[in-house]
Amino acid sequence: MSSNIQTYRYDFRSDTLTKPTPAMLEAMINAQVGDDVYKEDPTIIQLEAYAAKLTGKEAAVFCASSTMSNQIAVRSHIITPPCSVICDDRAHIHRYEAGGMALFSQATTYSIHPKNKVYITAEEIKSNIIPYGDEHFPPTRLIEIENTLGGSIMPLEEMKKIYELAQSKDIPVHLDGARLWNVCAATQTDMKLWTSQVDSVNLCLSKGIGAPVGAILAGSSKFIERARLFRKMMGGGWRQAGVLAAAALVAIETIWPRMADDHRRAKELSEGLLKLGIPTIIPTDTNMVMADTSKVGLDVKKLSEECLKHGVKIRDSAPNMIRFVLHHQIEDEAIQIVLDSAKKTLNSQ
Ligand SMILES: Cc1ncc(COP(=O)(O)O)c(C=O)c1O
Repeated sequence: MSSNIQTYRYDFRSDTLTKPTPAMLEAMINAQVGDDVYKEDPTIIQLEAYAAKLTGKEAAVFCASSTMSNQIAVRSHIITPPCSVICDDRAHIHRYEAGGMALFSQATTYSIHPKNKVYITAEEIKSNIIPYGDEHFPPTRLIEIENTLGGSIMPLEEMKKIYELAQSKDIPVHLDGARLWNVCAATQTDMKLWTSQVDSVNLCLSKGIGAPVGAILAGSSKFIERARLFRKMMGGGWRQAGVLAAAALVAIETIWPRMADDHRRAKELSEGLLKLGIPTIIPTDTNMVMADTSKVGLDVKKLSEECLKHGVKIRDSAPNMIRFVLHHQIEDEAIQIVLDSAKKTLNSQ
């Protein structure tokens, strides 16, 4: 069968564009499976137990995607609508989950534009918490944070302050840690350091970790029991999905230890761009480079065409900004191709 979908040597548009490695495919072929709704899929049980241990939580549940995992988390935390959720204005749950929270959780978001432009602070959250009492306003029932966000790291100290505040107000905290793997790789820290500062966490398996499908939601046993109920309600109670869990286990074992290379390459790219007069809008702490092309007036479409000549695909949908996302299938030569192409494009404008 032929396909007209284009493939590229290197694709910087997202870390969701990786292909499973031969080791992942082999693990999928050999995976032991059962029916996960019956809780009889041994590979899923293994993945969930591993994830619970990794995050220091009592339990975990394997979900089809991070969107599903986040939505289930919000719904499981919220017992009594109407209410509201505090989050960063750029948060995935606020902007990119098809408005799911309004439908599934009957909640609205109170979103904060962080003053420091990188992460929301405990102080900002404190002044946005809505207590019960005034019927105009939906009380805050959840605080949601995202780490990394745009590839930048929210410092552990800030997470501690947020959790302290949340606990003093009896409000749970959910972490969208789709890329918490990157936080740990960049800071060389134990994941539990971060997850101990939240009540629940989502970890994506199909981004920088490189598995083809899936996400993990972890929390207390009671919370995960509720989450399983909502996962089922959303049609996410899957059956012989151990084939997917097998790929995820291999991805964690083989790709995560190499993640620091993605971060090194991202730094090289952002430093190289800066030399050409192209700064980043937020720090390149991990695998994303948020390049502001407006200062030099770089023609993003032209750069994209130049990169394509070398088999490199970049995101070219915004006129003044390019989000480069690194992953394990982008090698050193791709960085050089982008930098050479940017130089050539600037010189020809
Ligand atoms: C921070 C974050 N959370 C959640 C998601 C949702 O992941 P998915 O699209 O796989 O459901 C994404 C996707 O890009 C994301 O970047």
